[in-house]
Amino acid sequence: MVKKEILNFFSDFALRHIGLNFSKDKAYLIQSRLDELSKELGISIEELYHDSRNRLTNELLNKIIDVLTTNETYFFRDKIQFDVLRKYILPELIKKNESEKRLRIWSCACSTGQEPYSIAMLIDEYFPQLREWNLEIIGSDVSKKVIEYAKEGSFSQVEVNRGLPARFLARYFKQKGNRWLIDKKIRDMVRFMQINLKDDFSYLGKFDIIFCRYVIIYFPEHVKINILNRLEERLNKGSYLFFGGSEIPPPFGKNIKRKNLAGCLVYFVP
Ligand SMILES: C[S@@+](CC[C@H](N)C(=O)[O-])C[C@H]1O[C@@H](n2cnc3c(N)ncnc32)[C@H](O)[C@@H]1O
Repeated sequence: MVKKEILNFFSDFALRHIGLNFSKDKAYLIQSRLDELSKELGISIEELYHDSRNRLTNELLNKIIDVLTTNETYFFRDKIQFDVLRKYILPELIKKNESEKRLRIWSCACSTGQEPYSIAMLIDEYFPQLREWNLEIIGSDVSKKVIEYAKEGSFSQVEVNRGLPARFLARYFKQKGNRWLIDKKIRDMVRFMQINLKDDFSYLGKFDIIFCRYVIIYFPEHVKINILNRLEERLNKGSYLFFGGSEIPPPFGKNIKRKNLAGCLVYFVP
């Protein structure tokens, strides 16, 4: 059993560095994840604690972030949101941005990449005219490990069995051994970056669509509101923000409104 002092230290650590809220009843989760990391590094949890306190390197920080984050994701998660994107939002934004021919989309906690790749495949399939546009899709996450995985665009059988329509698998993936490699064309549509939402991200500029799905659930209220206010500042007029289908964010922002599109709740800046 890990000492309470160590669990408290890593619980504070998660809050300070990533914004994650590990309440007291989640101590078991921290413990199992630290176990995992200490095994990987071949050191005891006491040594891990000592190093994290006294000589935290960037490499160790990244490794701790990798194990403390929950990276569950799958292709076309909350399918209704992708339907609404295809039927209403993208056609509207294409009309709105027709003269400058520019569209910017950010998946701001993209885990292993299924979310931004789903957006890229949907655009390639249904909006071929955007190939001529200045289209940017950024996928970012605080965890270096998942961003490196996402960049590879190589998925397991289990991953492609989750949410990905068979015709998208046939059209956009090639099998290599027991892996499925996403088409280079789709991979090149997404730029992956390691970004911590707790830090300043204003340098990214403004977006037409932001996907912020299943990440704020892990933050305490004040961190949620701070991040959401700064995300609103990254949205152009007439742009959209998605949360996970079952998430209800706290009140935030100055101008953001809720809108029901065919039974799907979306947030937008009028
Ligand atoms: C449950 S996954 C959601 C993935 C995807 N958005 C989806 O809905 O399928 C949550 C992701 O948020 C990331 N995350 C947690 N804290 C973060 C932070 N402070 N900044 C950026 N990403 C963070 C985690 O690393 C994880 O990959």
